[in-house]
Amino acid sequence: MIFRQLFDSVSGTYSYLIASRKGAEALIIDPVLEKVDRYIQLLNELDLRLVKAVDTHLHADHVTGLGALRDRTRCVTVMGENTKADVVSMRLADGDRLDIEGISLDVIYTPGHTDDSYSFTMGDRVFTGDTLLIRGTGRTDFQNGDPRAQYESIFNRLLKLPDDTLVYPAHDYKGDTVSTIGEERRCNPRLQVKSVEDYVQLMNNLKLPNPKMMDVAVPANMHIGLAQSAVAEKGWALLPLEAMALVGRPEVALVDLREKRERARHGTIPGSLHEPYTELADNIRPGGLLRALGADRRVVFYCAYGERSAMAVQAAQEAGIASACHIQGGIAAWKDAGGPIEH
Ligand SMILES: [Fe+2]
Repeated sequence: MIFRQLFDSVSGTYSYLIASRKGAEALIIDPVLEKVDRYIQLLNELDLRLVKAVDTHLHADHVTGLGALRDRTRCVTVMGENTKADVVSMRLADGDRLDIEGISLDVIYTPGHTDDSYSFTMGDRVFTGDTLLIRGTGRTDFQNGDPRAQYESIFNRLLKLPDDTLVYPAHDYKGDTVSTIGEERRCNPRLQVKSVEDYVQLMNNLKLPNPKMMDVAVPANMHIGLAQSAVAEKGWALLPLEAMALVGRPEVALVDLREKRERARHGTIPGSLHEPYTELADNIRPGGLLRALGADRRVVFYCAYGERSAMAVQAAQEAGIASACHIQGGIAAWKDAGGPIEH
């Protein structure tokens, strides 16, 4: 496995680059905007293909690299389903899996620092975001933070992991890089409380100043979605109602770009094909499946929120599939418009 812990000294943020091997797909957790050039360089040096960029929660102390990485690599942006970010390509829920080639992370909803905080376990380690820090815990006094929820997330979720589980947080300000669940249970001063009430009192009396970047970072991190209007202006977008009129037409191929789990959970458009976004590059190559399909049918991509499909349209058009278009707003907009769904 390739595992890199990367540090942004300005915000004290750790980002994690993960891949199963050289030449494989990669994902990055909690990337920082100012470091995007460095990530891209490292991806190139290690011969990795970034396919997913994930934020553990909506950050208040730095601007996320999710949008920039998507724009530069056409990767899928990922956050939890409770996020306040306008659009991410994929939203995960507690119990879901976050998959790339050869790697699978389990998703745990761990609210408290914010109400959109998620942790991810991967084998012997857990990425705790700002829920559990090394000898600390994430503040709970803004962004719908809740010390009671955080107590539950830490004591009833994270501390239930095996004691030797490695803890990789989103931040550290002292220079510590990694800890373990057992070590934090014993040595983390915030966790030496007798009850949830004690913890609530402790957290409510920290009196911390707001992060320096907060007024910039929070609004920026809430607006990271790809501008789907650029695709629409080229005439490559269909509104859900326009797309509904095409269901069942033989000259139209509706292509679902989502992953299996998303399809199972949210349903599919009747009669659509399944060609996951991760396989798009192969499918639009000369001789590729969508290339052949696009020769005599109109290819209509869709995904969860219209972001993957907008990127797919751009890639397909670049590859010469002139009929390619997508459903703006994805299956979320389709459902809002009353479109039929198959389970
Ligand atoms: Fe945070």
